[in-house]
Formats: sequence, structure tokens, C-alpha cells
Amino acid sequence: MTFAVAPEMYDRFMGRYGEALGRALAEKAGIRHGMTALDVGAGTGKLTGVLAELLGEANIAAVDPSEPFAAALAERFPASQVRRGSAEELPFEDESFDAVCAQLVVNFLTDPEQGAAEMARVAREGGSVAAAVWDYRDGMTMLRTFWEAAAAVDERGAAARDERTRMRFGEREEIVELWEGVGLRDVEGGEIVVSTSYSDFDDLWEPFLAGVGPGGDFTVSLEPDVQAALRKEYDRVLGSPEGPFELEARAWYAVGKK
Ligand SMILES: C[S@@+](CC[C@H](N)C(=O)[O-])C[C@H]1O[C@@H](n2cnc3c(N)ncnc32)[C@H](O)[C@@H]1O
Repeated sequence: MTFAVAPEMYDRFMGRYGEALGRALAEKAGIRHGMTALDVGAGTGKLTGVLAELLGEANIAAVDPSEPFAAALAERFPASQVRRGSAEELPFEDESFDAVCAQLVVNFLTDPEQGAAEMARVAREGGSVAAAVWDYRDGMTMLRTFWEAAAAVDERGAAARDERTRMRFGEREEIVELWEGVGLRDVEGGEIVVSTSYSDFDDLWEPFLAGVGPGGDFTVSLEPDVQAALRKEYDRVLGSPEGPFELEARAWYAVGKK
């Protein structure tokens, strides 16, 4: 899967859900003025922007391994500590932050246990460690309907890339278990539901053509006639919307204390 894409395309694809999700996650994590926070796998900075608004840009840090995303973060948040790096090896000292958050990231980690342990390491004693992951199997409507359409046009190809079956953390309790497994205490989990609006079907479809995420990877791998069939089927599965429409997305979250 690729995150080496233009930040603008990522924002049209997934970033459009990110601010509302970030606000809800920051609230669950108890983030308030006077704290310092780290955004792990910050992407184009949707959660980072929420943290900057709540805590002040100089009190936050953001890290992401993608070169274009790290560059966009540095440009968008010049007063913050922005680093290019991975969750499994966070480039920060022990006990550096009051809160450490990862939004839509733990399912992409090569070693989630190591990433979670690193997040706990850089949190202060008593600090908050939080993460959210889409409910890929059901409640993330954009992706669920996309993979339904993809399976209808290329069952085997879709199965090879479908994040619903290929990734961990699709179930409600999985991040809670990950958090407890690295020794975080008072771990609380649950769901966050957000929604976004699209001006028309192409507003939803175009980022897939730019190859964003596993769905985009799949779309650009198709022959033109299969790609056209996928577009038609996806539109059909969504009820052939005429003009603007809304899609709901559910995420699972976990928050624990160090
Ligand atoms: C779906 S995006 C989420 C971005 C952002 N947190 C948001 O809410 O919009 C997943 C992000 O995880 C990052 N990522 C992938 N592997 C990672 C790793 N090993 N450590 C940290 N971040 C990683 C990607 O570069 C990408 O920015």
C-alpha cells in the first residue's frame, strides 16, 4: 500500500474524515490546554491540526515515515517538532509527552506491538496513549462498499488487497488488547462515528485513480475496461447518487494511561 502520494489527494480520500475523528479522539484522550502531545503516523496532519489548536503548535510533535507527508507536516506546522520516522522506532526521548496519539495508523504498522510499546515509552508517567482504527469490516462505509464492488469485478485481485481481511485491528477489542499487552492501564475502548460529504460520485472516485491507499493501489492495477466496470459497480453499490451525498464512518478507539 502506498502513502507516497500527493498530500492533497490523500486529503480528498481519507483526510476529509480526519479532523472530525481527531477532535473526538483528542476528547477521549483527555487532551487539554497546557499539555504536550505527539501525533504518530501523522499523515497530512489532520489530528496534528486539532492538537495544535488545543495545545498550541509549539507544544506538539508529529512523526511519519512518508517523505511527502513529513514534508507537508513540516510546512504546515513550522513551530512543531516534525520528524520523518516510524512508530516502531520513535525519534524521541523517554517520557517526552503528556499524550501520544495514533489515528488510523496501528493497522499499517509492520510491528504493532513494538509501535505500541514505543508510544508508551515516550509518554510521561500518568500520560495518555490513544489510537483509533477504522471498522474496516462494516462501519467504514466508503471502504466497505468499495471492496464489495471490487470483489464483484475481480474477486481474486480484490481479496489480495482488501484491508478488511488482510489487516488486524478490524474488531472492536483488538486495540484495547494491544494497549493492555504493552502494560498501559485503565484502558478504555469504544466507537467513534463521523461522516463526510461528497459533491458527487467523482469526488469520491478520483482519489482512487491517484492510487491512494490499498483501494487506490488496486484501482490503478486494473486494465481500463475492468477499472470502468469497477467505477460503475461502486456507483451502483452506493445507490447511484445524483449530486451530493454523505457517508458515515465508524472507528474503534482505545485510550490508556502509562
Ligand atoms: C491512513 S494514514 C493516517 C494519517 C493520519 N494519522 C490521519 O489521521 O489522517 C496512515 C499513516 O500511517 C503512516 N505509517 C505507515 N507505516 C507507519 C509506521 N511504521 N510508523 C508510523 N506511521 C506509519 C503512513 O505514512 C500514513 O501517514
